[in-house]
Parts: sequence; structure tokens; C-alpha cells
Amino acid sequence: MGNKVTVFGSFVVDLMARTPHLPVPGETVKGTMFKMGPGGKGFNQGVAAHKAGGNVVMVTKLGRDTFANVALDAMKELNMDTSHVFFSDETETGCALISVDENTSQNEIVVILGACGTINDKDIKSVEEEIKSSEYLLTQLETNVDATEKVIDIAHKNGVKVILNTAPVQPIPDELYQKVDLITPNEVEAEILTGIPIDNEENALKAANFFFEKGVKSVVITWGKRGVFVATPEKHSVLSVPKVKVLDTTGAGDAFNGGLLTALSEGKDLWEACRFANALASVAVQRMGTTPAMPTRDEIDAFLAEHPEM
Ligand code: RIB
Repeated sequence: MGNKVTVFGSFVVDLMARTPHLPVPGETVKGTMFKMGPGGKGFNQGVAAHKAGGNVVMVTKLGRDTFANVALDAMKELNMDTSHVFFSDETETGCALISVDENTSQNEIVVILGACGTINDKDIKSVEEEIKSSEYLLTQLETNVDATEKVIDIAHKNGVKVILNTAPVQPIPDELYQKVDLITPNEVEAEILTGIPIDNEENALKAANFFFEKGVKSVVITWGKRGVFVATPEKHSVLSVPKVKVLDTTGAGDAFNGGLLTALSEGKDLWEACRFANALASVAVQRMGTTPAMPTRDEIDAFLAEHPEM
């Protein structure tokens, strides 16, 4: 098992419908399937990292309601420590309304953060020691941003390496960029943050240089079917992903980030860690749902063995 890592982020219950096409405004579409299950970018990433074999401290916030049990039951089933989960007495557990086009596997998501948008100083204080004693902190932008900024600050001040997944995308202050070791936007987020369309490798490098100038040390841009663009100030390349039968891409970025975290915590270099993360995400997209789609370490290793070309 690798070094200890903290995943700080959202838990929401995913209410997912599959549909012949995504509705346009004002249209009602008859869906073909409904599933409810654990989700939220933070939780998806934490579970992906844990199932991949990571030594994960999962930090999130729930309400005191039946949706909270969806998180707690999943964590118990997966043997995850629930002692760093906060509870709100006032705000309900968050949820996400997800529509997935069953033909294209494109999705639309409305997320209500609920309790995980109310993480306060007392909550953060209670996990400070866990963060300080981790090798990595992985976080996203799906909790209240002031809390995200505070945990990044704690990590940075204590030499804990910070991975920031920029979803859901929003402006990032310069002071925050300076504390980020590795940034992992998808191509849409990278374009929004840098103003550079990520339509070829040259532009991906320009976007990476934008992040380097802000003080970020390494950049990984997830690029859908094209794979991932990986860059440090010294070198860069595109890692391709094998063609698989895609069923649902919701949470694919989370799968990737969870895999990346576990691989880095095991001492793999950035390129080898991205290869591992690509394998994890490639297995996840062949399944329905978000958290429940995350594969085990054996499944990831089997996929890697079947795809030596990766
Ligand atoms: O990245 C996918 C996740 O985004 C879903 O699980 C949903 O909860 C939304 O937050």
C-alpha cells in the first residue's frame, strides 16, 4: 500500500436517468432507466483511489438524512474509514440530477451541493492532522470554495503535495495556483481557465505553460478519447487510451484522478501514474454509474496486462 493520502471533496447522491436523447429546454423525454447511488466528484475520486489500493483518508460532509446513509453504507461496504465524515444539522445531503444519452453517452448534470457546500473551520480543524500527515491532498471545486482554499493552504504550508481537479470549473485565484503541485483539468476546463482551445498538442502545451507561469508544477489535461496530455516544465507528451466499449462516461474524470492519486502515492512517476489512471478510467466507462463503476486493483491490473500498448 502507498503512502497516506487525503481526498477532500463532495459527496452527493446521484439520481441518474438514461434517455434516448438529452431533453432540450421545455422538452419532456421518456427515460429508459433510473438508478440512484453514491456520487459527487470528491467521493467518486476517494472511492476510486481506495479501490485501486490507496491508503485514503476520505473527508466530506453529509446531512442527517436518508441520503447520508447512501454514503455511509457504501463506505462500510468498501471498508473505508468514516471517521472523517462531517455532518450538518441544518443542511441536507447533496444530490445530482444526471441525464445520460444512451446513444452518445453524453451527460448533463445539475448538482446541489447541500451539506458538502457548508464545510466550516471547525470541520477543517478536525482533519488538519490527517492532512498534515498525508503525502498528497486531492481536492476539487465541488465543495464551498473557501473550505477548499483552506485545506490547500494547510497542505501547502506543511509540504503535502496538492492535486487540484478543476471540476466543476470556476475562476481560480492566483494565490491558489501557487499552492498547487499538479492540476488536472479536462480539455473544456483547461480552455475556460486559460482561454486557449485545447484542439491540438501545441495548444495543450500553451495551456500547460499558462499554468506553469501561475506556479503550478505539473499539468495533466484529460482529453476524452484522445487520452491525456501530461506536462512538466521539462517534458510533455500525449498518452493515448485504448478503444473500449463505452457505456457511461459520467465520473470518468473522477476515476482518472483517483487512479492518479493512488499510483503517485505508490511512488510511480507522473507518466506511469497517468497510464495506471487511464486504465482505471477505461474500465469505469464500460460500466453504468459513478462511484459504483470504480474498478478494483485486480481489475485495473488485468486491464493493463491486456493492453501492453498503453
Ligand atoms: O463527476 C461526476 C460527478 O459529478 C457525479 O457523480 C455527480 O455527482 C457530479 O457531482
